[in-house]
Amino acid sequence: MTDQYAVIGNPVAHSKSPLIHGEFARQTGQDISYTTILAPLDGFRDAALEFRDMGGKGLNVTLPFKHEAWNLVNERADYALDAGAVNTIKFLDGRMVGYNTDGLGLVRDIKDNLQCPIRGKRLLLMGAGGATYGVMEPLLHEQPGQVVVANRTLDKAVRLAGHFEKFQRFAAHGVSVRPYEVLGSAQFDLVINATSAGLSDEMPPLPDAVFAAGALAYDMVYGKTTPFLRFAQARGARIADGTGMLVEQAAESFFIWRGMRPQTAPVIARLRGEG
Ligand code: ATR
Repeated sequence: MTDQYAVIGNPVAHSKSPLIHGEFARQTGQDISYTTILAPLDGFRDAALEFRDMGGKGLNVTLPFKHEAWNLVNERADYALDAGAVNTIKFLDGRMVGYNTDGLGLVRDIKDNLQCPIRGKRLLLMGAGGATYGVMEPLLHEQPGQVVVANRTLDKAVRLAGHFEKFQRFAAHGVSVRPYEVLGSAQFDLVINATSAGLSDEMPPLPDAVFAAGALAYDMVYGKTTPFLRFAQARGARIADGTGMLVEQAAESFFIWRGMRPQTAPVIARLRGEG
């Protein structure tokens, strides 16, 4: 019988996950189906359990349910524990195991696809919301030289840094927290936008000098050139949107469920309209 998977969210119709997992399944010859589940805002738990009870093998979880998924699962694996969010559930003999593949997806895209090592680099991470929590631990494991977290609301960034305190030692020169206004003339090799600003065509108030020579500017929003990316490009930085991260986090989910690593490059090219 065909194994059933789905992405659950609200809204969910726009999700690229069915296309991505469909491509992975075709490529690897795996017999799976992958659909979308629109859960009511107060109905995540019921919808997830119903899918499981109908024999579903796994779920991807998208906004706004990632924290509820973290609460629902019986076990939290890998990076899910400290992220406070689960984007992948595996149903296993009556147990629900939760994973968070977002951070690994980001790291793989930056390191492998964009060929930009993170180790030793000066990293500026913008935002201190759910998206940042999801990627913080895997980024720190890459042993950046220095990490600065900038956020409009400084309190939230302070709380975030405290939450990940036990991983701060991985960054050679530590993790610090700053409002945008005091970034001054500090320069960074890697600037990651984990804010939701791009979704509403806005950008954080970055100083002009923020990009070191050869810097990579990465926006976790996918499928559009956000104001941040336009700003970075105009100042000579290399730019990348979150399409690669989206496909890489999906590949990691696919591996968790099926034990196989699909090729991501053709799927990234297809989503970018190049394939
Ligand atoms: P998510 O779960 O997507 O991260 P969130 O928890 O609401 O969503 O967090 C959104 C993040 O984007 C926050 O860091 C927010 O900054 P504040 O904490 O100061 O609100 C940031 N953000 C959203 N719009 C922004 C903008 N126009 N400029 C700068 N930061 C912005």
